[in-house]
Amino acid sequence: MKTLALLGSTGSIGVNALKFIRQNPESYRVLALAAGRNIDLLAAQIFEFRPRVVAVLNETLAATLKGRLPDDTVPHIHSGTEGFVSVATFEGVDTVISAVAGAAGLLPNFMAVCAGKELALANKETMVMAGSLMMAEAGRRGTRILPIDSEHSAILQSMQGHPREDVRRIILTASGGPFRDFSVAEMEKVSPAQALKHPNWSMGPKISVDSATMMNKGLEAIEAKWFFGLEMDQIGILVHPQSIVHSMVEYKDGSTLAQLAPPDMIIPIAYALSFPSHVETGLHPLDLSSVGVLSFFPPDMARFRCLGLALEAGKTGGSMPAVLNGANEVAVESFLANKIGFLSIPRLIEMTMETHRPHPIDGIDAVLEADQWARQTATALLDRM
Ligand SMILES: NC(=O)c1ccc[n+]([C@@H]2O[C@H](COP(=O)([O-])OP(=O)(O)OC[C@H]3O[C@@H](n4cnc5c(N)ncnc54)[C@H](OP(=O)(O)O)[C@@H]3O)[C@@H](O)[C@H]2O)c1
Repeated sequence: MKTLALLGSTGSIGVNALKFIRQNPESYRVLALAAGRNIDLLAAQIFEFRPRVVAVLNETLAATLKGRLPDDTVPHIHSGTEGFVSVATFEGVDTVISAVAGAAGLLPNFMAVCAGKELALANKETMVMAGSLMMAEAGRRGTRILPIDSEHSAILQSMQGHPREDVRRIILTASGGPFRDFSVAEMEKVSPAQALKHPNWSMGPKISVDSATMMNKGLEAIEAKWFFGLEMDQIGILVHPQSIVHSMVEYKDGSTLAQLAPPDMIIPIAYALSFPSHVETGLHPLDLSSVGVLSFFPPDMARFRCLGLALEAGKTGGSMPAVLNGANEVAVESFLANKIGFLSIPRLIEMTMETHRPHPIDGIDAVLEADQWARQTATALLDRM
């Protein structure tokens, strides 16, 4: 029996994680839940899973939630970043599933690892901002971080049983998003509603826009660098519209190993929670004869400029990936609020990165400072978009 805390329980990954846990009551017990604003769904999850502690975005929401629950349902309702940290470090929890969107996950995830918790990580922004610190801390505490991103799960699966020094490089696959075949002129005019309609995956708003700009693949490349101890030039990217091959590992002898599966996040969630086993998920197996064709081609770096910016930030290292991430979060929020156009997303990030003087990251405070700096700078630059 593994005891769990789930950060971001009301989101797309959070709901899928609870679906898997619900199917396996003999293997997992939820001790702690944290969500943002969706009190209705969180209350229903509390009734079903009976956690000992929960957290929400702020005190007002905590009071509203308390008012909805009978007194004996949840002993502790926390709020804000401190509340998320309480959930992430709750005594008795073995594994923290982190499915919060964006930089809000950074501190709770870092503190979870510092408390010696195993981390099943969907929140890629944490690895982008602070991958070196996260991996070093996990090593020091003798715990591990397991990826929930489908690409990193595929790489992890394709590396099992093979000496790490035999790896030549990895290849991350990308669906190419909803604007894969759009011209620059067409992209200039796309709306938030169009960007939120992903062809293969159903995801939260932030990652959906990141997929549309292909920033998502750039964030994943930085994430992979830390997860698997690679140089950025050992990470290749191929567009694969069918989203069946979730990523590949190329070995020195010319062999390439890949993981294939239907595009359903239950699979990487199940693998992270049951690692290194492949347990029952209730999904239909992959039927390659009905998929027919699997195609692959290189990404168009001229149309998807966010991808190049992320790869550059990964190469620069230090504070630059945190700055890229902070500027991207401001840009995506502004695009979703109809304040800037789709192609202003890379423009805003590039201008923020050009203004930044990268410096080494020696602790979590330095990461938080770089994030704040990026948000302030990008917000100030919004007027020039
Ligand atoms: N969805 C996917 O298929 C997928 C695949 C790979 C990786 N990921 C990664 O997994 C993470 C979650 O993605 P998602 O698609 O599940 O996102 P989502 O559907 O938007 O869910 C985000 C979750 O985080 C909570 N949240 C949002 N902002 C918050 C804040 N400032 N403080 C505290 N909680 C906050 C939300 O709470 P409320 O809804 O209650 O406000 C919700 O529970 C992201 O980092 C994403 O990149 C997702």
